[in-house]
Amino acid sequence: MSGHTHPCCKIGPSILCADLSCLADECRKMIHSGADYLHLDVMDGHFVPNLTFGHPIVKCLRPKMPDIYFDMHMMVQNPEKWVESMADAGANQYTFHVEACEDIPALCRKIQESGMRVGVGLKPGTPVETILPYSDLFDVVLIMTVEPGFGGQSFMEDMMSKVQYLRTNFPYLDIEVDGGVGPNTIDVVAEAGANMIVSGTAITGASDPSQVIALLRNSVENAIQKSQLER
Ligand code: DX5
Ligand code: ZN
Repeated sequence: MSGHTHPCCKIGPSILCADLSCLADECRKMIHSGADYLHLDVMDGHFVPNLTFGHPIVKCLRPKMPDIYFDMHMMVQNPEKWVESMADAGANQYTFHVEACEDIPALCRKIQESGMRVGVGLKPGTPVETILPYSDLFDVVLIMTVEPGFGGQSFMEDMMSKVQYLRTNFPYLDIEVDGGVGPNTIDVVAEAGANMIVSGTAITGASDPSQVIALLRNSVENAIQKSQLER
């Protein structure tokens, strides 16, 4: 679990729908536009009905941007299989899906021992209670606000009850949201208490990504400030 500092706002663009033939340039563009980290979507065609890329791509990307935080969103079956390869490739956070995992505590420990931060992801149909017994073992919870597999889907607002529950019970936890998040949906996400914001098409499809990133950040920072004043 995270330390005892209030979680701060971090914006992590997903490059899933960017031009993957020039991935490094697309990633640099995000960083220059004000992104705090990069959210890299790994899909295996089994856990989700789509394919993207794996650790060889991450390994090539790492030397081109040595200081950037890579959050690996592992939408794969048998997530325990890729921990070492991703750590070796230079990943910073390994976010696996609890639905794909047989032994959650063992996988959390394995990720931590490999030197990466531990992220646990929940599909929309998975109750938040599933992960409560392991709250000492993870750093980040990823609440999916679409069914994983594709960019550009509609945001599911009813997932905000999971975010609210987690923020109330774990004030220091990093809570990440992913799916359909953009200027039109950020305010409810921010109010609910999420602080790590993944946004794909709303950022990569914008004519000025920096403007979108600034807008998302502004909403989350205002909500954090408001909640701290209310304490
Ligand atoms: C969906 C991926 C997301 C996706 C987000 O399965 O996990 O990271 O790229 O894209 P948008 O923001 O367009 O929903
Ligand atoms: Zn994702």
